[in-house]
Amino acid sequence: MIRKMKPALRIDVLSLFPKTLEGFVSESILAKAIDSGLIEVNSLDLRRWAKGKHRETDDRPFGGGAGMVMKPEPLFAAVNEIADDDTTIIYMAPDGEKLNTSICQELSLKKHILLISGHYEGVDQRVRDYLVNREISVGDYVLTNGTLSSSILIDAVCRHVPGVLGDKDSLNDETFEEGLLGIPQYTRPSEFNGLKVPEVLLSGNHAEISAWRRSKRVEKTRKLRPDLLKN
Ligand SMILES: C[S@@+](CC[C@H](N)C(=O)[O-])C[C@H]1O[C@@H](n2cnc3c(N)ncnc32)[C@H](O)[C@@H]1O
Repeated sequence: MIRKMKPALRIDVLSLFPKTLEGFVSESILAKAIDSGLIEVNSLDLRRWAKGKHRETDDRPFGGGAGMVMKPEPLFAAVNEIADDDTTIIYMAPDGEKLNTSICQELSLKKHILLISGHYEGVDQRVRDYLVNREISVGDYVLTNGTLSSSILIDAVCRHVPGVLGDKDSLNDETFEEGLLGIPQYTRPSEFNGLKVPEVLLSGNHAEISAWRRSKRVEKTRKLRPDLLKN
């Protein structure tokens, strides 16, 4: 029997739309990483932990107002069953800390992440106050639900797990690594409609290429994202 190795990172996602995430992780780099056993991603239907004939997961907000709120009981029951001491429980929230490369690097070292994906008006505040370890946003805008933001986090975190990117050098010179933007990239042909690739890239001189790339990163960062250079 061929036994698959234990994945370096397991991510479980609790949501009301498990199929959205299943589609996302079934292709490309993530699918390969899952297939080779480097990571494990489980998309779990929160309704599994909802009680009653209709397995309701939401209810009207106390105090009135628009929309529905996700009930605490199914979320507490699910976390109670899934999480252990190695689990980092994250609620995807537009008002959470903003996801960045350093958070992705930190999360890629965890053994088990449990993502809670909200819907409607989000989750009952008691889930946020007593159940989760962390709240993460993917940007200053509001999505209709958390499966897309969970997918973004999974993608951005998993590429830092060793082996997920076929070539580990892919992370070098990349945007936001070392607080700089990425390098300008060129491929064949070396001349297209009179537009030439910078001479240095054709020189074969690795030290010069490396110095040129670094200077371009700094130049581009100064122009487009000077805030990064301050840190
Ligand atoms: C319509 S939103 C709820 C917004 C909430 N009423 C508010 O004012 O903050 C539904 C769910 O989508 C997810 N979501 C929306 N925008 C997000 C963002 N920028 N980052 C992470 N998750 C987000 C969250 O899980 C949230 O519970």
